[in-house]
Amino acid sequence: MIAPVLTLHAHPTAWTGWEERVRLMVRPRRFEHVVRVAELAAQIAAANGLDVARAYAAGILHDVARDLPDAELLRLAPPECEIDGLHPLALHGRAGRSLLERWGYADPVVLEAVEDHTTGPRGGNGVAQAVYIADVSEPGRGVNADIRELALQDLTAALERAIISKVSYLQGKGITVHPRTLRSYHALPCCAHLAASCPPAEPVTSSAFR
Ligand SMILES: [Fe+2]
Ligand SMILES: [Fe+2]
Repeated sequence: MIAPVLTLHAHPTAWTGWEERVRLMVRPRRFEHVVRVAELAAQIAAANGLDVARAYAAGILHDVARDLPDAELLRLAPPECEIDGLHPLALHGRAGRSLLERWGYADPVVLEAVEDHTTGPRGGNGVAQAVYIADVSEPGRGVNADIRELALQDLTAALERAIISKVSYLQGKGITVHPRTLRSYHALPCCAHLAASCPPAEPVTSSAFR
C-alpha cells in the first residue's frame, strides 16, 4: 500500500492562473486526471529528491493540448514522422509545449516534461520522468499500481519497467514504436547497449499513445 496522494499547496500562487487555463482547455474528466497526475508527480518527486514544484507544474500542464482537434494538433506540432501524420493524438505532448510557449511559459524543464510525456522522457530530466510515471499510473487509471509504488521507492527502476513493458507490448503486437519512444528506451541505463537493434516498422494504432 502507498500513502494517499498528497494535495500539494506548496506550488507558487501563480499556478492558479495556469491551472485555470488548463481547466478551460480540457474536458472535466480530463482535468480530474490532470490534478491526480500533478499530485502524484509531486509525491514521486519528493520521494526521489526532485523539484516538487516543477513536477506539480508539469503535471498540471502535461495534457493542455490533449483535447484539441487533430487539425490544431497538426498545426501546433507538424509531424516529424509517418506515425505523427497518421495518428495526430501522438502529437499532443509536443503540441502542448508549443501552445505553452505561445502563451509565454518559459521553464525549459517543465516544457520538456510536457513535450515528452506521450512518448517518454529523454535522459536526465527527473521531472519529466516523474510526470511520465504519474501519467501512466495515477490511481484513476486503475492500472500500473506496481509502477506507482515502485516510483515512490526508485524512479529509475519504475521508468525502466514502464518503458520496457510499453516497447515490448508494441513489438509483440507488431506495432511500430514511435522514434521518440525508442529514444527513451535507449536512454535507459539498462537498454543503452541495444541502441542498434530497433524494431521493424509496422502500422501503429492510436491506442499506442496516451
Ligand atoms: Fe497525455
Ligand atoms: Fe495525461
